[in-house]
Amino acid sequence: MSIMEILKFPSPVLRKRARAILEVDGRIQELAEKMVSTMYDAPGIGLAAPQVGVSERLIVVDLSLGEDPTALIALANPEIICTEGEIDTEEGCLSVPELSENVTRCARVVVRGVDMEGREVEVEGEGLMAVALQHEIDHLDGVLFIDHISKLKRSRYVTKRKKELQEEWKRGG
Ligand code: NI
Repeated sequence: MSIMEILKFPSPVLRKRARAILEVDGRIQELAEKMVSTMYDAPGIGLAAPQVGVSERLIVVDLSLGEDPTALIALANPEIICTEGEIDTEEGCLSVPELSENVTRCARVVVRGVDMEGREVEVEGEGLMAVALQHEIDHLDGVLFIDHISKLKRSRYVTKRKKELQEEWKRGG
């Protein structure tokens, strides 16, 4: 099992628009496997390639945290094609340490993408699955959940995070 480093805000790669994957080949399958191990290790329910420093359009989601082998979704080039309703959820992100805030998103989504066998697939998600898919697809466009909270809360977080990083640097970390 190989675990990748999860990059944290304000790492610049988290703000870049990730490039499309031209073909799901061995390299992409291996990247997806590593991302899944990294997600389970964290633990988290979703991970996008930019979070491990790879600016390509690949996401993994597993609401079961590895408990249910049929629950794992790995998608290249995922695109939201249909949305419905609204849902408020307390969100967090492995790349945004020590913050969880309420975010309003669509309650139901249909996502089109390419699975790890190279087949075009459609995935439907409701509730937490819809939220996770939207959160991970946001990462591919350089968008973080803090972009969906109030400006005041966001700037408070950014200030706190800068202070923490300065202290880490002072300690030589
Ligand atoms: Ni995230």
